[in-house]
Amino acid sequence: MDFAMEDWNHTLTQSLLVVAVTFLSALHILRWLRSGSLLNEPPGPFAWPIIGNAAQIGNAPHIYFTRMAKKYGNVFQIKLGCRTVVVLNGAAIKQALVKQAPDFAGRPDFTSFQYVSNGDSIAFGTVTDLWKSKRKVAQATVRSVSTGNAHTKRAFQNHIVCEVKELLQIFLDKTREQHYFQPMVYLVVSTANIMSAVCFGKRYSYDDAEFQQVVGRNDQFTKTVGAGSMVDVMPWLQYFPNPIKTIFDNFKSLNLEFGMFIAKKVAEHRKTIESSTIRDMTDALILSMDQIRDTVGKDHVPPTVGDVFGASQDTISTALQWIILILVRFPDMQQRLQEEVDKVVDRESLPSIEDQPKLPYVMAFIYEVMRYTSFIPLTIPHSTTADTTIMGYSVPKDRVVFVNQWSINRDQSIWTEPDSFDPQRFLNPDRSLNKDLVGNVMIFSLGKRRCIGEDLSKMQLFLFTSLLAHQCHISSDPAHPPQMDYLYGLTLKPLPFYIAVKLRDNMSMLEKFYSL
Ligand code: HEM
Repeated sequence: MDFAMEDWNHTLTQSLLVVAVTFLSALHILRWLRSGSLLNEPPGPFAWPIIGNAAQIGNAPHIYFTRMAKKYGNVFQIKLGCRTVVVLNGAAIKQALVKQAPDFAGRPDFTSFQYVSNGDSIAFGTVTDLWKSKRKVAQATVRSVSTGNAHTKRAFQNHIVCEVKELLQIFLDKTREQHYFQPMVYLVVSTANIMSAVCFGKRYSYDDAEFQQVVGRNDQFTKTVGAGSMVDVMPWLQYFPNPIKTIFDNFKSLNLEFGMFIAKKVAEHRKTIESSTIRDMTDALILSMDQIRDTVGKDHVPPTVGDVFGASQDTISTALQWIILILVRFPDMQQRLQEEVDKVVDRESLPSIEDQPKLPYVMAFIYEVMRYTSFIPLTIPHSTTADTTIMGYSVPKDRVVFVNQWSINRDQSIWTEPDSFDPQRFLNPDRSLNKDLVGNVMIFSLGKRRCIGEDLSKMQLFLFTSLLAHQCHISSDPAHPPQMDYLYGLTLKPLPFYIAVKLRDNMSMLEKFYSL
């Protein structure tokens, strides 16, 4: 009798549960159907309760988005945890970021963004009048210490050449000691040293522990702020032990340490600055940003120095990793680069920025690395600043927007055989660089949020590539053939690879340059 009663209770509980789950799911499906059709919001895949589409985006969200764009069109909508996200692909990107620029220039109020420079970052802050002034000053200052004029270009070039010499020396030492070695960490320190020289007038040795600690944690940063990062869309993940919480805790502590490093540098500069001599970018920012501080009463120099120093490291060092990986993956292209550089630069000189127009294959190679790897596949997440429409769909204010740069770089209507690596595609029949076509590569974004370090980065990548081609030969470890696989984050990082480096000649020109 007791057993029968227990069984009956059990069956009743089960039935109630099934009814409740069915009812909730039906309600959810109904709301999903109505939200799209009645409000004319963009279409998109069905989103599960609580997690939305988080499980579908996988470890390469840009590929998932590109696939979804084929099904739903260039504007579609997904749900990530508690956030609805509009994903822009292909032609919709230019429409939104350029033609409707003010509407799509915001940044979402993500938890992680508040930890970057205590919420005062230009890159992670949303649009306000103050933000506009800070961005304008930052952009002008970056130019004034790098690509602004012939004099600043030369000074910036000097920093790069000195650092390439140090890097090459390390590469040769490591080849001698280990035969094949992983170059990643040296590329990170080398990149950080160039920006450290520009920002603070100081470079660090490769085994400086403090510097390594500050600059060597890019991976943890990019995992958290890249589009599709879970902590921002499921904030409850912060409150109990799990792998995402661990990544987020690391992210908070690295931002704190980075902030302290920058604050110390700015404080040192403030003590010794003389307005008649601008020693470096920090001095230049102190002089220009303090004009803004007078009206709002906050010190904007540390977050802006942090933006420039931080934004340059992970991006440029990742680009350099891909350049080296591709040089060893396609040795015939490395040879072609060497041949082109040798025709223009003799052994008694070093490649310089003036040589750039005479080295179209070098530039074509760099653009193809940027296009093919699309190593920033999605921009930093945007948000809408007003109720708006895009391609006929309604998008409300404050909606999170992902911009899929990858979809443009692999678009079959723009590129022939987009999945092949072929620098030649950027050369005209007369072997000059096809300026229209290179303009189609999208890696620095567009519009009001376009990267402020684009010119500086292109100059650095050009000098790095042409100096390496002129000075050395790089080969891969036959035991570890180079793979093009990567780890997803704000930047796509190639998986570890091994190289050996030998000089083509000797380092006398670099040494002579260094001693000047
Ligand atoms: C190859 C190197 C680089 C690439 C591919 C790159 C790409 C990008 C991308 C995709 C964005 C996001 C744009 C958006 O959200 O729509 C961005 C933003 C930004 N970048 Fe770069 N970047 C590079 C180097 C640099 C350097 C060297 C600096 C500093 C001098 C820099 C400073 C910034 C800043 C401050 C922002 C924020 C702009 C804003 O939010 O308005 N970047 N960059």
